Amino acid sequence: IRVGVMASGNGSNFEALATAIRDGHINAEIALLVVNNPGCGAQQRAKRLGIPWQLFNHRNYDSRSALDRDLVQRFQSLGVEGIVMAGWMRIVTNELIQAFPDRLINIHPSLLPSFRGLDGVGQALKAGVRLAGCTVHLVTEDLDAGPILVQAAVPVLDTDNHDSLSRRIQQQEHRILPAGLMLAADRWRQG
Ligand code: GRF
Repeated sequence: IRVGVMASGNGSNFEALATAIRDGHINAEIALLVVNNPGCGAQQRAKRLGIPWQLFNHRNYDSRSALDRDLVQRFQSLGVEGIVMAGWMRIVTNELIQAFPDRLINIHPSLLPSFRGLDGVGQALKAGVRLAGCTVHLVTEDLDAGPILVQAAVPVLDTDNHDSLSRRIQQQEHRILPAGLMLAADRWRQG
């Protein structure tokens, strides 16, 4: 199955996906990586991995919808059947969601439905929870609220700060995002 990936930052989740696919764990291929920040880590990783990438700089668009319309056009032209948002730090609009219903998955660094929105890690630290984690879910119109595919929990240690907890969560993200794509891709193949 042909998938598109969208990333805004470091791209460690994107690379975890690419590695799982290359190692034959997921029967899929990445048709295109889309980035919105010129020169970001995800772009550099795609270059190194030899995966097609394209910059859609949100700063060049008048609206979120206009950007999403271009993304839909590009992904559809490539025959993309599902999309993974691997650290996409822009709110997506119905343009994208309705063009790929139940075919968009996202990774969020909290145990949803707790701590939706920005900085799930910081929210967990502030709330003093003893368990934090991450969630792979289908994207719907409601932010960080679609059907959950996979979750992983990690302990929060007394000595934790934002960096140490983020690192522990990211280790799990790199495991559950490929697992989430595996699950979703099976459903997508059934059409
Ligand atoms: C991940 O922690 C993800 O939960 C959040 O953005 C981060 C992306 O990290 N949405 P990376 O760019 O995949 O390293």
